[in-house]
Amino acid sequence: MFFERAISITGLFKYYKNYKTPIHRIKEIILSSLSSQVVKYTKDDFCALENIDININKGEVVAILGKNGSGKSTLLQSICGTLTPSLGEIKVNGRIAALLELGAGFNPEFTGRENIYLNAAILGLPKKEIERSIDDIIDFSEISDYIDHPVKQYSSGMYVRLAFSIAINVDPDILIVDEALSVGDAKFQIKCLNKIKSIVASGKTVLFVSHDITSVRALCTRAIWIDKGKIVMDDDVTNATSKYLEYMYSDSKTMQNNDVVENNTKKYINHWGTHKGSIKKVELKNEYQKTSSVFELGTLMEFELEYFIPSELISVDTKVSISIKNKKGMDLIVHSANVESNSYEGKLIHTKFTLLNQLAAGEYILVVAIERSNDSEISYLEYIEGVLYFTSVTIEKRHGLFNPEVRVEFY
Ligand SMILES: Nc1ncnc2c1ncn2[C@@H]1O[C@H](COP(=O)(O)OP(=O)(O)OP(=O)(O)O)[C@@H](O)[C@H]1O
Ligand SMILES: [Mg+2]
Repeated sequence: MFFERAISITGLFKYYKNYKTPIHRIKEIILSSLSSQVVKYTKDDFCALENIDININKGEVVAILGKNGSGKSTLLQSICGTLTPSLGEIKVNGRIAALLELGAGFNPEFTGRENIYLNAAILGLPKKEIERSIDDIIDFSEISDYIDHPVKQYSSGMYVRLAFSIAINVDPDILIVDEALSVGDAKFQIKCLNKIKSIVASGKTVLFVSHDITSVRALCTRAIWIDKGKIVMDDDVTNATSKYLEYMYSDSKTMQNNDVVENNTKKYINHWGTHKGSIKKVELKNEYQKTSSVFELGTLMEFELEYFIPSELISVDTKVSISIKNKKGMDLIVHSANVESNSYEGKLIHTKFTLLNQLAAGEYILVVAIERSNDSEISYLEYIEGVLYFTSVTIEKRHGLFNPEVRVEFY
């Protein structure tokens, strides 16, 4: 099959110069402008992008993943032409509309309406076409009351509303969105995502940077993960996002209590108890018994605990517990099991809790505890809050804390 290229990047490097003093910077700018010499880069300069090769076909919807400072915005700005590559070539086929950093391209003294004209002109739209789409732009932004006020009076949410409305209503061939959506309120975010979906459906090319993996999965088919300016992975969106999340949470995949005892650098949110060190190991596995910290909605999660309790402390009141909290610290699921057998005497005890992931997309905190509780009191041999962290992901955006399977009948 023949694919038409939208973006083609070969051997792209981007260095940021490390000037020793501001004088060095001015000297170099003057010298290079006098001699039309290109700025030279030295080993002391910072390499934000290193030998990047990417081909994106028309109609592809590609996410750029990477932790803070990995080079995502540098890459997008190089594609848009707001940054000049130090080396390499970028070919773009079609008109780009980009939502980069907040308010970039706006003149703060101009009104919203004037900025629409200014921005659309920068995007290469003839005045007639701007006039045809200006009502749509204002309508979509829902800030018509403020459209004739200078944008310096806008809140950051209003800024992004206007910028987004312009970017998507000027009929671009390539839409580039850099994390900006997160500034808008929830209602506007959904509206924008739906609009991006319709742009995708009409066969346009989209590049999307977001730390919200649910939106990335809902929107994109391919994801490019960059780290320290290099491509780590360029793959189908599910594979790339899973690997990326694993990596992001990798140091919390398995907890060995020796880490705590021998190396007290590991920080839990809370850790107490009369017998700290009883819990030896905590592992979180997926339905294929592989250690994981990312769980698709509706798949099995296995929490495996290894611990030791001195036999004189094992009684009908002794319990092993897990709790799953959200990031606000709210207990969402708490489950305890009695440890009552004497056969564990002197041995490590293994307990596995298995449950179906019905949690809304987001990040969660695992708490594990060995406790002795009866109707009147509770005491902890060991309690660890934040022993592991994991993420629940869903293909479609859903509302609510839990997403159990629900049977719906019309009658
Ligand atoms: N103008 C600049 N001068 C010097 N270094 C810069 C400049 N702009 C960015 N950098 C550095 O380049 C690296 C990549 O930055 P970039 O903004 O591309 O990261 P990012 O992946 O978009 O991060 P985030 O997720 O925080 O938006 C960072 O280490 C950053 O400090
Ligand atoms: Mg960025």
